[in-house]
Amino acid sequence: MNVNQMEELIGKMTLDEKIGMIHGNQLFQTKGVERLGIPPFISSDGPMGCRLDYQPASWQVIGQNYDYTSYLPSNTALAATWNPDIAYETGKILGKEARGRGKDMILAPGINMMRTPLCGRSFEYMGEDPHLAAEMVVPMIQGIQENDVAACVKHFAVNSQETNRTSINAKVDERTLQEIYFPAFKAAVKKGKAASVMGAYNKLNGSYCCHNDYLLNEVLRKDWEFDGFVISDWGGVKDTMEAAFNGLDMEMSVTDNFDEYYMAGPLKKMVEEGKVPESIIDDKVRNILRVMNRLHMLDGERKTGTYNDAEDRRSLRKAAEESIVLLKNKQNILPLDEKKIKHILIVGDNGDRMHALGGGSAEIKALYEISPLLGMSMLLGGNVTIQYEPGYYASVVGNVWDEGWQANSLEEDSVSGNREDGKGTEWTEKNREYRQRALKAAKDADVVIYIGGLNHDYDVEGMDRRNLKLPYGQDKLILDLLSVRQDLIVVMMTGSPVDMSVWLDKTDTLVQTWYNGMEGGYALAEILFGKVNPSGKLPETFPMALIDTPACQSGISPEDKELNYTEGVFIGYRHYDINHIKPAFSFGYGLSYTDFSITDGNVELKQSEDGLKVQVSVTVTNEGKLPGAQVVQIYTGCGENSLNPAVRPIKELKGFQKISLNPGESGKVTIILDGSAFSSYSTSEKCFIVEPGKYNIYIATSCTDIIETHKIYISNRIKYSK
Ligand code: BGC
Repeated sequence: MNVNQMEELIGKMTLDEKIGMIHGNQLFQTKGVERLGIPPFISSDGPMGCRLDYQPASWQVIGQNYDYTSYLPSNTALAATWNPDIAYETGKILGKEARGRGKDMILAPGINMMRTPLCGRSFEYMGEDPHLAAEMVVPMIQGIQENDVAACVKHFAVNSQETNRTSINAKVDERTLQEIYFPAFKAAVKKGKAASVMGAYNKLNGSYCCHNDYLLNEVLRKDWEFDGFVISDWGGVKDTMEAAFNGLDMEMSVTDNFDEYYMAGPLKKMVEEGKVPESIIDDKVRNILRVMNRLHMLDGERKTGTYNDAEDRRSLRKAAEESIVLLKNKQNILPLDEKKIKHILIVGDNGDRMHALGGGSAEIKALYEISPLLGMSMLLGGNVTIQYEPGYYASVVGNVWDEGWQANSLEEDSVSGNREDGKGTEWTEKNREYRQRALKAAKDADVVIYIGGLNHDYDVEGMDRRNLKLPYGQDKLILDLLSVRQDLIVVMMTGSPVDMSVWLDKTDTLVQTWYNGMEGGYALAEILFGKVNPSGKLPETFPMALIDTPACQSGISPEDKELNYTEGVFIGYRHYDINHIKPAFSFGYGLSYTDFSITDGNVELKQSEDGLKVQVSVTVTNEGKLPGAQVVQIYTGCGENSLNPAVRPIKELKGFQKISLNPGESGKVTIILDGSAFSSYSTSEKCFIVEPGKYNIYIATSCTDIIETHKIYISNRIKYSK
């Protein structure tokens, strides 16, 4: 449909028909205009697959068996692969499945920055670094949208915590927004061509994000030339006038009074009273129609999708394999040799727990989910005895997401109290019994693998953690197990970092895995038994303790209605660097079963009147005996005597590349940085500026494992648009 035809179509629509298109008339659907061939617009969550279906007007699941679907690794897991191809392949599956399930838009990916590890939804996001998230989100969106399904990046912007999420006012300065909280969204819009953006629940600098003039009109539409539509988070709209004028196109909510939504009856009335020009409604309809047109919803040329394709499970397994991070392997206990083992003991609730149907709107009715116990049993094929002991009692709270949760989710901290933090006699007794059994069994097994961490009672929408401590008395259990078995293999399965300080020094072998999708348990087994060499790298810093973390040294207070982001650009490793705090494990860190050397680092600078390009190249060699993959990471920073007036992070990730090599093989990695990799945002000039001066280029394998530092001198002052 061309522009004229679209205008003609809008011209034929009544006000009621237009209003019907810009607000939900079901929980995940708007009205179409049948007489004009415009279908309703149907959305579904979310980042970990296409969510199960709810009744049109109540939060009661349909409950039939057609909506079992693929369960994808969480976004944090995808970010931990540091492999944009994996993001693309996973996006393709997500889009295909959403289309197969008859959806027009998938409410994903989530790309809020991890400002604090306490945030309950960290697992839905892509870590703490804007560049990593930007590089991963673009291919993911492309993969989704290839299927004639819209991606919806969320939550724009600065939705960094769940506590008071529907009322908190995040106060963030412009430079911090531009350098930290915007880049992934900007890349999603400008490079990924995301068809939709979801406004966040919170306020930003005094105004609700779902109708924030600065965010939606100025940044999104004007600066980034966004041509898709803006959808509210469910229940994120608070004011009709603001929603009308400040750039929101579609209002969704969690209640069934559809005609009373701000952009339903109340907005229609304002148009009729002449308070809002009808052209404003036309703009919103036009934005939605443009997306419908792109998705071929209006011309009968739309692709079909499918779901639960057997070959997609291979890709999801690969994604899970590449996301797992080997953190410690001091005695080279890993990989395990199945030929030398007769009896394995798995201890820990995550050894055999299903996670898919938890976490909030990211819940998935998984076609299947392979737990580590199942994965190991499948892999070892009957020759080894695999014993399982839970070790601690993590009471299953039941389905937190039964009818009512989402309906009540607009109440502050509405899901608090769903956790079982280990209180009460039942817990104490069961825990004692489980622990004794595990400790006894640990003495007899050839290998003991502890698989604990968090679950979706903790990594969850609507609620933040109160601290970083492991729940259910796990610290003591791990210590006790270590006193029986110094060779204990510890696997943490979490969506965000935990405090491991109590036992970290005593542990020789440590692996990090995530909510890793339907194949996650099998992928973990492959890593532990060396069928796959680990190549994941942390997409976020793992701190020693809460007190070390940026932004949340005193925790997140339910009393706070306003939050000053006083740390500014210093979140994640930027904070640890500048404050000289040693974390447990750095951003970008991850070991392999093989060794890599990185040599011949070379930096070439090409400066001209119209720009700057820096080409960084290195040779990576696999010096060990197993095939493996390494991620070369390029950080930049200001050199000494820098003329830049802003206080800059010591280093910032600006490029990376993952390379797979066979034993003895070498490969060249070339990464091109443009001048913006050296810029910072100037609030006075409203653009990114590279000041002339000295800069450092760090060739690294994590933000603290620097292989080489190169110095360059930039002579021109260069501006880049925001
Ligand atoms: C969440 C969104 C989600 C929406 C629809 C909200 O509570 O914040 O991420 O897409 O619900 O389920």
